[in-house]
Amino acid sequence: MTFCPSSYTLRGPIILKDKFGSPFLIRLYQKEKGDYVPLKEMYQGFEPKEATQGLPPRSDCSRERWLKSLLRGGTNLLAIMEEKVVGHAVLLEIEPCRRCEYLVFVHQDYQNRGIGTALTRVVRDLAEEMGYCQIWLTVEAINFKAIHVYEKVGFCLVGPREVECEMVINLKGGDEGP
Ligand SMILES: CC(C)(COP(=O)(O)OP(=O)(O)OC[C@H]1O[C@@H](n2cnc3c(N)ncnc32)[C@H](O)[C@@H]1OP(=O)(O)O)[C@@H](O)C(=O)NCCC(=O)NCCS
Repeated sequence: MTFCPSSYTLRGPIILKDKFGSPFLIRLYQKEKGDYVPLKEMYQGFEPKEATQGLPPRSDCSRERWLKSLLRGGTNLLAIMEEKVVGHAVLLEIEPCRRCEYLVFVHQDYQNRGIGTALTRVVRDLAEEMGYCQIWLTVEAINFKAIHVYEKVGFCLVGPREVECEMVINLKGGDEGP
């Protein structure tokens, strides 16, 4: 898969190819482009609901509330393939200008093609550009696929491996950076 961080810019979409050579793009969520409805539809069709850490919520009402809070409070990226929203990644600030939390969902029909990894790499680079020192996340210990993706992009497990575990990646420029 082609991923070119040097061509990465906050403003423009990034065009990539999945493991089968099909193109998809990653760009920031833009309300004014009408992104809300296709994103909501991705989560309507997302199965199984509540698969990981109770997300995405099962009831339409809770799911909409959850999604709107992510859109209001975070930096949101979309993966778009075949003119559909197929993936959604979010950075939520925990500590102003220092630490943010990450979460990512790829629609089940589009998983295992490299989209989750690409979103995670773009988010890592974006967080670095935004000046964050660290991205933090929690993941269920049995979510081996997500853990594999996070480790591939440079996240490390920290703390005890219980029902949920914590992972972090330190970014360049931060005190904790490599
Ligand atoms: C986790 C998730 C975002 C990954 O997205 P994706 O597009 O399927 O990921 P990719 O295709 O980029 O990579 C999947 C990797 O996991 C590997 N994988 C697949 N099943 C696996 C398993 N059971 N155990 C370990 N690795 C597995 C694949 O081989 C691939 O690795 P490789 O590229 O090194 O071969 C997606 O599966 C998802 O949305 N899951 C449900 C929601 C979720 O769990 N979100 C994360 C927690 S908030």
